[in-house]
Amino acid sequence: MTPPYDKVTSGDTDQTEYVAKIFNEMAGEYDNLKDLWYSYTFEEIERIIRISLHPTRGSDNKPLALDVGCGTGIQSLVLAQMGYRIEGIDIADDLISIAKAKLGNAGFVDSHFQHADARSLPFDDNVADFVNCCGPTLSFVTDWRTALREISRCLKPGGKLLLEVEGKWTLDMFWEVINAIICNRLGYDKPLGQTIRQFLPPWRVGHFIDYSFVLESGETVRMHLKLFTAYELKHELEEVGLVIEKRWGLHFLTNFIPSTILHRADTGPLTRSLFHRLATIERRVFNAWPFNALGCSLLVIARKKG
Ligand SMILES: C[S@@+](CC[C@H](N)C(=O)[O-])C[C@H]1O[C@@H](n2cnc3c(N)ncnc32)[C@H](O)[C@@H]1O
Repeated sequence: MTPPYDKVTSGDTDQTEYVAKIFNEMAGEYDNLKDLWYSYTFEEIERIIRISLHPTRGSDNKPLALDVGCGTGIQSLVLAQMGYRIEGIDIADDLISIAKAKLGNAGFVDSHFQHADARSLPFDDNVADFVNCCGPTLSFVTDWRTALREISRCLKPGGKLLLEVEGKWTLDMFWEVINAIICNRLGYDKPLGQTIRQFLPPWRVGHFIDYSFVLESGETVRMHLKLFTAYELKHELEEVGLVIEKRWGLHFLTNFIPSTILHRADTGPLTRSLFHRLATIERRVFNAWPFNALGCSLLVIARKKG
């Protein structure tokens, strides 16, 4: 597949259709991503949801959770089990079908999924008690500010957002430089000049990278991915009326092992053992400064003012 852009650092070109096509192609493999990286990420997101985002019941109606970029409904299912009524949206129809079947089979017949774009949410103002936007969906949306405004518009005052985005400050930045020097042995597939440019200012805001990965079919695909800093996230959320209450940095320490190795399905026992040790330490500190501003995934819970 040819990406709809040719520049690396700009997010100007809309890639929505292209992203939908890639995720539809991943429909068969998405729920079977068993590598160390995704297993840990999904586990921690679920743990945070279960511990921090219990629904408060004001009336007989179930509280409403919007799942923006719901994919196959991994977080939708957790939220439904906790007592939320789910409205999920995504641009990838094949993933939506899986989410529908998953929640339907689990008996959550009041959940609803539809094709929609995060930049134009098909919901009224101030309706949602909670919005989930993990995966990290926002990093795939070229016009991510519009999506953030939409999320805030749909949240009730006092309602909460769980947002996961790709972080800028990671150990992968260093691995990418090393990889370019050792002739792509780690498989990051980035030229040296590009890996070095990532260290240049401005340091307080993120940028778009050209992210490539291999599908189960063996095809390599590339997408624009927006990286964020914690500083930028705080200010951008405030711009749309959201205040950060908690923040976590995921994979700042586990990334002592290159992410390309952690994405392999066949990691050996030594790598697994080292990964689990690093993850155990990371979990102890990942919500404390400065660790909660570092890592490949930044996770925040933000509350709508009012
Ligand atoms: C990595 S998946 C995450 C899915 C799910 N939240 C999870 O954690 O498993 C990212 C999702 O974002 C969706 N997505 C990307 N751009 C979108 C947009 N503009 N509007 C809605 N969904 C979008 C993709 O189709 C994909 O399903």
